Amino acid sequence: MTISTSRLCLTALIGFLCVIPTASKIKGDWNHPPPPTKYCTVKHNRNGADDSANILKAFTACSTNSIITFLPANYSAYTPVTLAGLTMLCLTSAADNVIIHLNGNLLLPNNITKTYATPWFYFHGSNVQLIGSADFEWGRFYGFGQHWWDLGNRTLRPQLATFNVSGGLLRNLKVIKPVAWGWNLPGTNLRVENHYVDAKPDNGTRSDTVFMYTGINISGQNITVDGYYGHNGDDCVSVINGARNVFATNGFCGFSSHGLSIGSLGSNGSFQTVQGVIFKNWTMDGAVYGARFKSWTGGAGFADNVTWEDITLVNVSTAIFITQNNSSTHISNFKFRNFKGGLNANWINGGDATQSIIFDLYPGTALNISVGKMVIHPFKKPASATTVICDPTTLVPGEQSTLGFDCTRGPYVATPIQA
Ligand SMILES: *[C@@H]1O[C@H](CO)[C@@H](O)[C@H](O)[C@H]1NC(C)=O
Ligand SMILES: *[C@@H]1O[C@H](CO)[C@@H](O)[C@H](O)[C@H]1NC(C)=O
Ligand SMILES: *[C@@H]1O[C@H](CO)[C@@H](O)[C@H](O)[C@H]1NC(C)=O
Ligand SMILES: *[C@@H]1O[C@H](CO)[C@@H](O)[C@H](O)[C@H]1NC(C)=O
Ligand SMILES: *[C@@H]1O[C@H](CO)[C@@H](O)[C@H](O)[C@H]1NC(C)=O
Ligand SMILES: *[C@@H]1O[C@H](CO)[C@@H](O)[C@H](O)[C@H]1NC(C)=O
Ligand SMILES: *[C@@H]1O[C@H](CO)[C@@H](O)[C@H](O)[C@H]1NC(C)=O
Ligand SMILES: *[C@@H]1O[C@H](CO)[C@@H](O)[C@H](O)[C@H]1NC(C)=O
Ligand SMILES: *[C@@H]1O[C@H](CO)[C@@H](O)[C@H](O)[C@H]1NC(C)=O
Ligand SMILES: *[C@@H]1O[C@H](CO)[C@@H](O)[C@H](O)[C@H]1NC(C)=O
Ligand SMILES: *[C@@H]1O[C@H](CO)[C@@H](O)[C@H](O)[C@H]1NC(C)=O
Ligand SMILES: *[C@@H]1O[C@H](CO)[C@@H](O)[C@H](O)[C@H]1NC(C)=O
Repeated sequence: MTISTSRLCLTALIGFLCVIPTASKIKGDWNHPPPPTKYCTVKHNRNGADDSANILKAFTACSTNSIITFLPANYSAYTPVTLAGLTMLCLTSAADNVIIHLNGNLLLPNNITKTYATPWFYFHGSNVQLIGSADFEWGRFYGFGQHWWDLGNRTLRPQLATFNVSGGLLRNLKVIKPVAWGWNLPGTNLRVENHYVDAKPDNGTRSDTVFMYTGINISGQNITVDGYYGHNGDDCVSVINGARNVFATNGFCGFSSHGLSIGSLGSNGSFQTVQGVIFKNWTMDGAVYGARFKSWTGGAGFADNVTWEDITLVNVSTAIFITQNNSSTHISNFKFRNFKGGLNANWINGGDATQSIIFDLYPGTALNISVGKMVIHPFKKPASATTVICDPTTLVPGEQSTLGFDCTRGPYVATPIQA
């Protein structure tokens, strides 16, 4: 197998030219997988030369009922690779029932100058578990993003990885200085446990030139993220078009994160949807926003049944920020509960760091939004100095009675939420 074929395969795959097995062809029972029958250890070049061919070889040989093991070593993954997925020429079926022990690290080149805005690693198949070492020094993906951040280059940046698997697990993975976005999860029935992201520039400020790295993008269904620790310059978790039934819990989100987000939805006037999301027990430290909904101007679609609860804020600019942005993307059944902590001016966008809530609603398209009592204070000020920005003329008639705070531009005043 040649590397150039794999590169072609990846590029073609993203262009949807490859034959991907349909969901109905994917078999396997996540709860009762057959025992492994094959074992592969991934070889590595001691001189630091490109290991992409070694990686592909192991994944090709061990694509079904297998266990693949990386040694505790640095692997050079200099060529974008498709793992546990399509093999050469994109003709064979996807991986099924594969456990990958990432006891080593995967290193991207530290000198990428030209690339494409596609994932560096692409996983496809069913019942795929990628388990990082419990040792903090291993199980890492080194993106060497610092180089890109220093240049301020946002052109055609590679995204780290896409995990397009049905029935999967990502555990103990550490993402170190990704070039841009981290993990993309379009798959179904997935668990992410104990995920670590360091996307904080070494000499970074919270300036515009160094942000834009999302920790986890979720567009799939039945996905649980349990345990996240990250320093991000964009959303820690972003739930985007197509997502259903997502539970993201027990996380810490630091640096200049854009928070726990739904969207952006409806780019280029498209119809995009998200439904059934719970964010629970997160600490947001230095984030621009705590909870966030955003949609594009001119977009359509909906986000329904989303809960943010038990959120602790440390020096966050705005606790809750909804921007429908002149979009008719409907939002409904949003619950914000048990937000506590302090605000501070980090990276002000739309407020002055006294706002616990900013609602920029599109008239008549926000239904049954409610905010439970918040215990929040601006930096070095009492809770009574907390304010909100909300335009009552944008509310659906009757909405004020279930909103939980006085929709106005002024002080935050909690009001009863009527059933
Ligand atoms: C692996 O690569 C990382 C990043 O360059 C480096 O910090 C670490 O020392 C390397 N580990 C070994 C054992 O070479
Ligand atoms: C990047 O580094 C690799 C490995 O050291 C080297 O083979 C390659 O020539 C370098 N590429 C550029 C564009 O400097
Ligand atoms: C930014 O990256 C693009 C594509 O990789 C490249 O063509 C361009 O030269 C880079 N610009 C700078 C300033 O490095
Ligand atoms: C970080 O350091 C690099 C290299 O010294 C420099 O090019 C870059 O401008 C610095 N970035 C910031 C945000 O200070
Ligand atoms: C994920 O795989 C499915 C088929 O299993 C395919 O239809 C879909 O386009 C893929 N999504 C991405 C983002 O690669
Ligand atoms: C991830 O979501 C963000 C929105 O937060 C979006 O800008 C970005 O393009 C998404 N990345 C991928 C690879 O889908
Ligand atoms: C998600 O989980 C529900 C409930 O267990 C199940 O009915 C549904 O088929 C799952 N969706 C997918 C895409 O597997
Ligand atoms: C909340 O999440 C943190 C990790 O960020 C964890 O240490 C803590 O135990 C969780 N609390 C509860 C009540 O689960
Ligand atoms: C939106 O449309 C513009 C211009 O036609 C295009 O360049 C861009 O890729 C589109 N974005 C998406 C997310 O489809
Ligand atoms: C809302 O979403 C959550 C999480 O996916 C789900 O458990 C719950 O059943 C949904 N509620 C309704 C009324 O659909
Ligand atoms: C919101 O609207 C403004 C003005 O039309 C635009 O510049 C901005 O990109 C929009 N943002 C989103 C997320 O749609
Ligand atoms: C909040 O930020 C201020 C600096 O603006 C800092 O002094 C303080 O320690 C921070 N608070 C916490 C709880 O980190």
